[in-house]
Amino acid sequence: MSECCGSQTSQGLVNLLGEDDIKAAVRERYTEVARGETSCCGSPTDSTRVQRSRDYGYELNILGEEVPVSVLDSFAGCGNPLAIDTLNPGEVVLDLGSGAGLDCFLAAKKVGPTGQVIGLDMTDAMLEKARKNQALLGLNHVEFRKGEMESMPIADASVDVIISNCVINLSPDKDRVFREAYRVLRPGGRLMVADIATVGELPADLRSTEAWTGCIGGAIPLDEYLGKLRAAGFADVQVVSAQEWRPMLQSVKVRAIKP
Ligand SMILES: C[S@@+](CC[C@H](N)C(=O)[O-])C[C@H]1O[C@@H](n2cnc3c(N)ncnc32)[C@H](O)[C@@H]1O
Repeated sequence: MSECCGSQTSQGLVNLLGEDDIKAAVRERYTEVARGETSCCGSPTDSTRVQRSRDYGYELNILGEEVPVSVLDSFAGCGNPLAIDTLNPGEVVLDLGSGAGLDCFLAAKKVGPTGQVIGLDMTDAMLEKARKNQALLGLNHVEFRKGEMESMPIADASVDVIISNCVINLSPDKDRVFREAYRVLRPGGRLMVADIATVGELPADLRSTEAWTGCIGGAIPLDEYLGKLRAAGFADVQVVSAQEWRPMLQSVKVRAIKP
């Protein structure tokens, strides 16, 4: 995949490379992350990944005294969507871009066996890793489903809560993701996402394919992100937190409701 580009906007790079090429590069990167061949969105070492998840306020202890290292070693989040709001027993939760499954497993503990958690991901190697982790943890009410968040293989109005961690920035069509999220949530359902947003326009060298797959190049300004959520029909769109992540980038937590 070639580096590029003259444009300084996320949309400019999409226009230049095309959505299919961007998605192919994202799949390639996360296949490597799942296999431990590269890292993303943080540090490459296991110990600092554990530390990072603790810094984000993860309650790892609810998975048991010893969280299997394979659950954490492909963790590629940039926040903790579960810290945004509570999950209630019996709820149906959908995790967009579930990766190796950490957020799904924690959500499964919270909704309990009367609830259900669906992890959606488009990368086979990540799905394989997540299913192995699920078997290690013995959580039967979690399902990992292959699909793209721009066209979710999920029934209309069937989900109580959508979570996502550092994934929507990777989509070349965020409007479509938010429209799909709105479609699958039941009325009153909530969206709780951790993601990356830009502060101003990024320099052109951060709008490369590699920067895109590393959760930087596809990020958009927070106001634009919130505007897209409202345009999809979401109400009560709130920024729960926004912290500097890297220069010109912030790690944000956003909550919204389907009226
Ligand atoms: C940065 S990782 C985050 C993984 C996980 N949420 C976590 O916190 O560790 C991005 C994940 O989203 C998946 N992904 C990226 N774009 C996607 C899309 N359009 N549809 C479905 N999954 C996608 C990737 O395969 C990868 O597993």
